[in-house]
Amino acid sequence: MMHVQHLKGKSFGSIVNGVDLENMDNDTWKQLYELWIERALLIFPKVFLSPAGQDKFALRFGNLEFPRTAITNIGKEEKLHHEISDDVVKVLRGNEGWHHDSTYMPVQAKAAVFSAEIVPTSGGSTGWADMRSAYESLDPILQERVESMRAYHSYYYSQGRDGYLPNEQNEDGTYNYYGFHGEEISLRPLVKVHPDTGVRNLIIGRHAHDIIGMSKEESKSFLDDLNDFACQEQHVFYHDWEPGDAVIWDNRRLMHRATPYDMTEQRRMWHTRIAGDVQTESALNHQPI
Ligand SMILES: [Fe+2]
Repeated sequence: MMHVQHLKGKSFGSIVNGVDLENMDNDTWKQLYELWIERALLIFPKVFLSPAGQDKFALRFGNLEFPRTAITNIGKEEKLHHEISDDVVKVLRGNEGWHHDSTYMPVQAKAAVFSAEIVPTSGGSTGWADMRSAYESLDPILQERVESMRAYHSYYYSQGRDGYLPNEQNEDGTYNYYGFHGEEISLRPLVKVHPDTGVRNLIIGRHAHDIIGMSKEESKSFLDDLNDFACQEQHVFYHDWEPGDAVIWDNRRLMHRATPYDMTEQRRMWHTRIAGDVQTESALNHQPI
């Protein structure tokens, strides 16, 4: 029997118990998907998804951008990545800035399933921010201004700005990590009409830069202010992980961020990324033909 508890005082997010995510009948699935569209973040405490089960569950939401992948500081032979000069640490620390996944790709992600296997004794929670309620709380004049704005989204930009570019660069300027593609930099509107609800929300975060028609400095300060405004406490929720917890979030509507932890302790999370629809999640300059 599905038990749903909405996050108190939040415009999004529900805690769901009593569902076997790996073996759902169609009615349960339909109910769960509708709830997800409405709440954008579902938290399933201590469900301990199996490796194949996590991807199977994710596949109900759409094709995978990539299958279950470890997000972890645990390296080969249990060696811990913890120094900031370490490329693995740079990727993990970069995730601490608010972002939507894969807005720097030609097609932004639809969603992600994320689950906890090993958690540190403190820190390492994950935050989400509702870009729908953020958009709705903007001054109407600003709402109208952002409606026509477009910004580039680039992983080179976000990692570069924070000092987290990988140590080795290829001759063509790319890096051998996911997201550093050599295609045209994705250009996206600041306001997205959600394809399933028709409701508007902001698409911003750390990957966004260089709004068309603004100087570099003007765009940077405008986007920094907008990100700060959008990620105020009333739009944000943080989840403290227990081993076995799993979540699914709507990446078309929510931003998210990692938070710091002591990287001399082990942490291993598993991330399955669900691909966006090319009709509705493609960048303006990567439209399907
Ligand atoms: Fe992310």
